Amino acid sequence: MGNSQIQSLFDFPHMIDSEDAARADFLRREIERHNRLYYEEATPEISDTEFDRLQHELATIEEAHPELAHEDSPTRRVGGRPIEGFSPTRHREPMLSLDNTYSIGEVVAFFQRVAKALGTETVPFVIEPKVDGVALSLLFESGKLVHAATRGDGTVGDNITENIKTIRSIPQSLPEEAPDLLEIRGEIFLPRAAFESINNAREAAGLDPFKNPRNAAAGSLKQLDPKEVAKRPLDAVFHGFGAISGALPPTYSAALGLLTRWGFRTSDRLWFASDANGILDAINKLDAFRSSLPYDTDGAVIKVDSFADRQRLGATAKSPRWATAYKFSPEQAETRLLDIIIQVGRTGVLTPVAILEPVALSGSTVSRATLHNQEEIHRKDIRIGDRVVVEKAGEIIPAVVRRAGGQRSGSERIFLMPETCPSCGGAVFKAPGEVAFRCENASCPAQLRRRIIHFASRGAMDIEGIGDALVNQLVDAGLLKDIADIYRLKPAELVKLERMGEKSAANLVAAIEASKTPPLDRFLFALGILHVGKSAARTLAEHFRSLDAVAKASPEELRKIPDIGEIVAASIHGFFQSSANRELLQRLADNGVQPPPFNAAQRDAALVGTTWVLTGTLPRSREEVTEYLRNLGAKVVASVSSKTTHLLAGDDAGSKLDKARSLGVRILSWSDVEELFRKQR
Ligand code: IVH
Repeated sequence: MGNSQIQSLFDFPHMIDSEDAARADFLRREIERHNRLYYEEATPEISDTEFDRLQHELATIEEAHPELAHEDSPTRRVGGRPIEGFSPTRHREPMLSLDNTYSIGEVVAFFQRVAKALGTETVPFVIEPKVDGVALSLLFESGKLVHAATRGDGTVGDNITENIKTIRSIPQSLPEEAPDLLEIRGEIFLPRAAFESINNAREAAGLDPFKNPRNAAAGSLKQLDPKEVAKRPLDAVFHGFGAISGALPPTYSAALGLLTRWGFRTSDRLWFASDANGILDAINKLDAFRSSLPYDTDGAVIKVDSFADRQRLGATAKSPRWATAYKFSPEQAETRLLDIIIQVGRTGVLTPVAILEPVALSGSTVSRATLHNQEEIHRKDIRIGDRVVVEKAGEIIPAVVRRAGGQRSGSERIFLMPETCPSCGGAVFKAPGEVAFRCENASCPAQLRRRIIHFASRGAMDIEGIGDALVNQLVDAGLLKDIADIYRLKPAELVKLERMGEKSAANLVAAIEASKTPPLDRFLFALGILHVGKSAARTLAEHFRSLDAVAKASPEELRKIPDIGEIVAASIHGFFQSSANRELLQRLADNGVQPPPFNAAQRDAALVGTTWVLTGTLPRSREEVTEYLRNLGAKVVASVSSKTTHLLAGDDAGSKLDKARSLGVRILSWSDVEELFRKQR
């Protein structure tokens, strides 16, 4: 497009209505074309700012004339309406996983298995990068994107269509030549460069940084407001198919060509091989190439190219027999150990943390790593000032694996655990037979921070919005002196904190309020009693049924319970004997925090976490059915939304049924529900 044409695009005079439709149409096509030029051909003709102006103009027209706003308009990709939650979506064909191989021997064995099964000496294979992203399945029907879903459990995933529509590089329609029904699968990723800048911004804003680009991508997709998602430059690479109604080309490599033509981003490079040596050679080449990719990769995927061969090879319940993933060993880097600092955990355990000379590793800069404990440091003879080797495997925090070779200068220092807690100055103890050193001061501020975070975490009190950054601020501001203080936080105090608006403060207070009647087992776990994990908490709740009974139990009574040994019994008894803890429990109760008596049936009720809508004529009264469902833990609401998980459809069900269908809600008949009730008796 020449300059004069661009000019005329923007200098468009004030429009009259009849021209709006034509103009919107033109803009839509123009935006799609620039998207293609930008994403697929990497030859943009206009700047980002100019592109934004086109988008803006189209959005303005669509706002003034909603009837002109198409479902698949490119404006939908920069943020549509927020969605209430993610509804479950069943994949037409399950999303399987891949078998992993870690050695040359296993790759050769894979080749031999495939060749033997097919009865040939050579087999055409495609080798491509294994993208470390978030798996995605797109369902197209009659050329239109019906929905986009995460993997979930492989059978049912979350419907993230609105969020996916904000990703400019993903086409929302297919040309006519495409099969009528087609599931296209791939990985969503956040480019490494964007990951760094997002994390810098998060840290500057006092938020916790994402651990790696995959977590950042997953975190971005979980946002309920597509406008927020649109701010993250997510992208996707496609590498496979699920259900198909028609025919595709006979090979995967040819089918990828088709996907590319339809506008999908596919693997940036492919390698071909037909025997074991060829595969190994391709893996080496891919390994040398992968650092130049904009996304993280953690292996090579080796796939049989012919779809007919794939069909013959079939799949196990978990993974196809025609493909395997060769996982690269985690990247390592050498750097200097500048210092070892101490972190104090919620139970007072002191953990040494390595402070490193910053070093680039697997696409990010590493300046801290775990060192486990003093024994480990001494066993590996690692000293402060040494050159060390660090390793990062996926989302795991980097670890110091060993001392690097080379001479010492003589200035290196042997690390010794401090005798006092670096946070509160309290004495540090090491129990005989344990490797851990502990600070035993129950009001140590470092422990307090960790205890609060644990208390609020998922699986404990599940208070959304209480994370590291906020807790630090609250403790520093003196607003939290113990966990009971959480229930005294006022919106007026919260809004004074950094990055806390009125809405977030109100949401936080609501989340806190909603946590006041936790199931007993979760409450016991949340208290952070030493040695009481989720499973011990559950055992205690089942046995004693009330908080009071647990608190009164003698060590002997506790020890009689299966799975509660002497040390755990002593820890539980000790916790409830402590007058500080008894006061804390009293303060929690005074603030309205009270786990109701434990009811295993209710806690485990089959329908906890589900949201139902009833529609149509049922053989029993609505009230009766509703009560029954509620007793099984279900929530029953009046209208279908994206939060609805089940629809009970009686006779003559109408629009609710249609809506539920369009949202992929699970639909049950009266006889399905009767069956469910029978099972519960
Ligand atoms: S093919 C039946 N190709 O890795 C599964 N998967 O760990 C066939 N992945 O489920 C998948 N890059 O989500 C394939 N180039 C690639 C891939 C890839 C990443 C993901 C995918 C898969 C998972 C298995």
